[in-house]
Amino acid sequence: MNEQEFWQERYDEDKTGWDLGKISTPIKEYVDQLTDTSIRILIPGAGNAYEAEYLWNKGFKNVFILDIATTPLQNFKKRITDFPEEQLINQDFFKHKESYDLIIEQTFFCSFPPIKMNRTKYATKMASLLKENGKIAGVFFDFPLTDNIEKRPFGGSLKEYRTYFQPYFSLNVFERCHNSNADRMDKELFAILQKKKPAIKQANNPLHGVKLKDILEELILEEGWEKMANTCRINCFYSNPTLKSSLTFLRKHEWAREKVEKYYLRVRKKK
Ligand SMILES: C[S@@+](CC[C@H](N)C(=O)[O-])C[C@H]1O[C@@H](n2cnc3c(N)ncnc32)[C@H](O)[C@@H]1O
Repeated sequence: MNEQEFWQERYDEDKTGWDLGKISTPIKEYVDQLTDTSIRILIPGAGNAYEAEYLWNKGFKNVFILDIATTPLQNFKKRITDFPEEQLINQDFFKHKESYDLIIEQTFFCSFPPIKMNRTKYATKMASLLKENGKIAGVFFDFPLTDNIEKRPFGGSLKEYRTYFQPYFSLNVFERCHNSNADRMDKELFAILQKKKPAIKQANNPLHGVKLKDILEELILEEGWEKMANTCRINCFYSNPTLKSSLTFLRKHEWAREKVEKYYLRVRKKK
């Protein structure tokens, strides 16, 4: 069964234990202090999307809901009849291409198989979907990740989350959530992560003064690991790739570094 079928079945069989039936308090309090109702907001893995309903009723009209399963989107449509059809997106998050000011995270990160590749992909995808200075706001579970790959939701820790987000985001807030739902109390972190500016500036010689780390960070953000692996065919981009292991490999292997630099220049030229 693939991920789409898995989630569709959960909705169709009414096995939706994660569903709070209302906007979560941490997100409600975050939304309540927003003043600009014109911002573009994405809620990925939105499920029944109570956050979107709350935002919509408060006058935020550029809210987009994305889910891989159809049932929660249909449920939402029945509840909020004047919500624009084109703002209900039935798609795999990792294939989505758009640009937003704010992305709201509510029990989405914890829902997909917690292999390092997926978690890294999530962080880079989030960054690529955000405008400069755009933000992720939401909650992340704070309990140990076990080896049981059947047992959702999947946990994590601040230390682990830092490794995924720090290359692309300033961690403005990442702390114990004080207003979680009762059954999640002391198990959540509240986060506001702001997209960093790309470190690289154009110059006559585009590689002059550009660090390998900056090149990799930009490629990860713009292209993603999968595309990097397919284009460069270098082992360190294939299995459980990380910035650290790739840097170590590329610093040792000149031929591989040259390949990556050439690839980077092609990507820059296309922009
Ligand atoms: C644990 S549920 C959370 C739903 C909602 N955020 C909530 O808190 O009630 C995870 C949601 O993510 C959706 N989902 C899982 N993988 C996805 C993917 N790759 N792309 C888009 N949606 C996905 C599922 O269909 C499901 O609705």
